[in-house]
Amino acid sequence: MGVKVAILFAIFAVALTEALETAEPCDPSKCQLPDCRCASTNIPSGLRAQDTPQFITITFDDNVNTQNIATYREVLYNRRNKNNCPIGATFYVTHEYTDYTLVNELYNEGFEIALHSISHKSPPSYWATASVEELKQELGDQITQMSIFANISESSIKGLRMPFFQMAGNNQFQVMAEAGLTYDSSWGATNSINPGLWPYTLDYASPQECNIGPCPNASLPGLWVSPLLAWVDNSGYTCTMVDSCYSSPGPQDDRGWLEFIIRNFENHYHGNRAHFGFYIHEAYFTSHPAAKRALVRFLDLVDNLYDVFVVNASEVIEWVKNPIPVDEYLKQSCKTNDRRECASKICGPYKSDHSEYGQEYRLNICSSCPASYPWVGNPLGLDKSN
Ligand SMILES: *[C@@H]1O[C@H](CO)[C@@H](O)[C@H](O)[C@H]1NC(C)=O
Ligand SMILES: *[C@@H]1O[C@H](CO)[C@@H](O)[C@H](O)[C@H]1NC(C)=O
Ligand SMILES: *[C@@H]1O[C@H](CO)[C@@H](O)[C@H](O)[C@H]1NC(C)=O
Ligand SMILES: [Zn+2]
Repeated sequence: MGVKVAILFAIFAVALTEALETAEPCDPSKCQLPDCRCASTNIPSGLRAQDTPQFITITFDDNVNTQNIATYREVLYNRRNKNNCPIGATFYVTHEYTDYTLVNELYNEGFEIALHSISHKSPPSYWATASVEELKQELGDQITQMSIFANISESSIKGLRMPFFQMAGNNQFQVMAEAGLTYDSSWGATNSINPGLWPYTLDYASPQECNIGPCPNASLPGLWVSPLLAWVDNSGYTCTMVDSCYSSPGPQDDRGWLEFIIRNFENHYHGNRAHFGFYIHEAYFTSHPAAKRALVRFLDLVDNLYDVFVVNASEVIEWVKNPIPVDEYLKQSCKTNDRRECASKICGPYKSDHSEYGQEYRLNICSSCPASYPWVGNPLGLDKSN
């Protein structure tokens, strides 16, 4: 009896796994833009490097709060690219301690809001082994949570960065597909950086090395990977986050930091023009003020280059789908987010079961105040008792 049940269960489990087909090696004649692209360092559409826009993607992770917003306002606001469109940047946001009225502000300034999970729970192995159901609660539900609390449109949320850059294999991408997400920005590339690996889809097998697996190995049509192309630090080690570089300039070394950024930028700009990522946590600027000053200087410098564009990460995917040369790109009209009002409210204090220290939470949001503290499994903080 018990054996029969076990056998039935095994058959069922196999059937579920087989619903995903193993990815085959990519065949460029079958996999074509705009919806399919084999992983490659070739410039999309065979453009020449000098005709290809050099995209810069600046991203910040974790919660958005009253401290780090000051940096975002200072560094990012009121800057324009050579096409006269505002610069982009992408925020991979977590729920705890996030002030959603500030997320609303970032959105209204034209920046991209993306997912980084509700809980950002430790340890990383939680994410490595997370089930489809768990990932739905952390990621799918976060879209609803973010769009309601910050009053932004669900369809503007397109990207994901996994906590700790911990890939969650096929489950992660299955949940992304169900939630209508477009791209992942968690997968570090340390080998194919010069020339750099352009974004590609997972219709076919990814040749990218898997440093923080499990990485997906099923065919997952139409989902994009935007590889985190590593920097090379001053001792020749690679790092995917600027603040994780081992051998970087000193905290007050402005000149060193500017040279460090430019050297890594030029690997792309003088190479195959794959996107140049500046991936960082804002808190690093507190311990390394020179890094912030150098970023500002760097943005001033690239502002003078007619073929360099600071954009949000989803814009790179859009361009790869329909690649056009710089002179055409310059003539395109700017994309805009429609402004969304926020009648801001301060809610709480709330207690939450998940917090070990029994601290209380306040919540700054654009919607009406939840009955309880929102968390995984109850993303809108609805009263659990009814
Ligand atoms: C991306 O950036 C541009 C700024 O050029 C902005 O107008 C656009 O709406 C942004 N897209 C998203 C999805 O946030
Ligand atoms: C695909 O990856 C999973 C881990 O996520 C692994 O268990 C499985 O054996 C892999 N399948 C193939 C065909 O490599
Ligand atoms: C959300 O934004 C829309 C458009 O600006 C506005 O009409 C609506 O009142 C806003 N909702 C809240 C709860 O702030
Ligand atoms: Zn994080």
